[in-house]
Amino acid sequence: MDKGYLTIALPKGRIAKEAMIYMEKLGIYDVVKSSSRKLIFTDEVIKVRYMFVKGVDVVTYVDEGVADLGVVGRDIVLEEGADIYELLDLGFGRCKFSIAGYPDTDLYSKDKVLRVATKYPNVTKKFFQSKNQPIEVFKLSGSVELGPLVGLSDVIMDIVESGSTLKANGLTVLEDITDISARLITNPVAYRYKRNRIKEITNMLEERLDKDND
Ligand code: PRP
Repeated sequence: MDKGYLTIALPKGRIAKEAMIYMEKLGIYDVVKSSSRKLIFTDEVIKVRYMFVKGVDVVTYVDEGVADLGVVGRDIVLEEGADIYELLDLGFGRCKFSIAGYPDTDLYSKDKVLRVATKYPNVTKKFFQSKNQPIEVFKLSGSVELGPLVGLSDVIMDIVESGSTLKANGLTVLEDITDISARLITNPVAYRYKRNRIKEITNMLEERLDKDND
């Protein structure tokens, strides 16, 4: 990527729509046509380059220094465990990390290995380690709720937003782990060498957040 430009990695997935609306409101997103299949947009006026990547890849691009900033769900930040800084809680994409399953499922029993299906094996292992509960993890890429339904797992660890997917499948939250929302992230090198430009963007975002909260 060229010098002088600030590069921002934006997610194409679940929080993409909200991220776009947000950027549009800030007036730093004029050049982007959401219907387009193009993956890189450059705003020559403010020297900002936007790249569109899969949500799970935002952390990789920022961690590797290809992007200076990224918008990503805290779920991915926690799972990837990379050396990145969280600059702002953007307040959208709110949901929770929760353990879910059939009602009355016992989570904790030293004599039993709990089987857990999830898209987030690292967070899952860390959580149950902190509870001294032995587990077997089944890594899935989506529709994790199927785990208990077909007997692959006893429970799931997943993001829960409205709870409607759990409800539609006869499952319920058994324990909440932590709150999730979209975060603005950067890497230590960009934060050191492009601090002023990054400050400009975060100030704009913070002003916007204050207005939204009024
Ligand atoms: C997520 C998550 C749950 C669902 C939760 O899946 O994995 O399945 O959304 O949302 P709810 O509580 O509002 O029902 P997503 O829609 O991203 O699809 P996926 O299962 O294919 O990953």
